[in-house]
Amino acid sequence: MEPANALALLEWQIELGVTEAIGDAPVNRYEVPAEAPKVKTSAAKRSKPAPGPVDAIDPVAMAQAAAAEADSLETLAFALGAFEHCELKRGARNLVFSDGMPEARVMIIGEAPGRDEDLQGRPFVGAAGQLLDKMFGAIGMARDAAKPEAAIYITNILPWRPPQNRDPLPEEIDMMLPFVRRHIQLAAPDLLVLMGNIACQALLGRKGITRLRGSWETVMDRPTLPIFHPAYLLRNPAAKREAWADLLALQARLREMS
Ligand code: URA
Repeated sequence: MEPANALALLEWQIELGVTEAIGDAPVNRYEVPAEAPKVKTSAAKRSKPAPGPVDAIDPVAMAQAAAAEADSLETLAFALGAFEHCELKRGARNLVFSDGMPEARVMIIGEAPGRDEDLQGRPFVGAAGQLLDKMFGAIGMARDAAKPEAAIYITNILPWRPPQNRDPLPEEIDMMLPFVRRHIQLAAPDLLVLMGNIACQALLGRKGITRLRGSWETVMDRPTLPIFHPAYLLRNPAAKREAWADLLALQARLREMS
């Protein structure tokens, strides 16, 4: 193929929304025989939808039951990995569960993995994650800190990347919320930080981060601070002033509580 044609084809695919190559060689899907997906693990079998009409399945109830059974962060991660009712799982490369120190005093909740997080299986490792690390570094906190006082623990509302990084759908949030709430119970941080509108919508039932940011709320009996999402700060650097004020408020609250 002419290089100019190959380039035009590539640009056309990008316009259609293609964000990454998933194989070295093209596959003609019309020639691949249809095959039911194989379920390998016994845990996956346990949480497979029961046979019967589709509307007989209540995925939120299934999520609640699966999350409630988990008695440690490890078993919660395992239960999420075995949960088969969220379509996002099928399009994702990796489950993105958490990063940082589980014993940290501060637990940060973001929105959903992006491309880099999906590839690495860790939250906030792309450009927004680098800014997150700088923001918390400025108040002496880090995901790899040696002590819980200086450490952060990070997760997202959704553990799988939405296609083309679209916003999470309300039904996806509802389905993942029991896992997020169990995650908070098991990690038992002193304080929660909600990054951006999706985390606020999911855990406070409210949106409007410009008004919510900087005011303390309570989630599951814990002081909770909504702040701007670092991806928003990358697009709106002028808002870093408010983000800095919020980080100082967080630092002051941690000192008061210790
Ligand atoms: N944005 C998020 O909300 N979470 C991530 O993990 C990465 C980017």
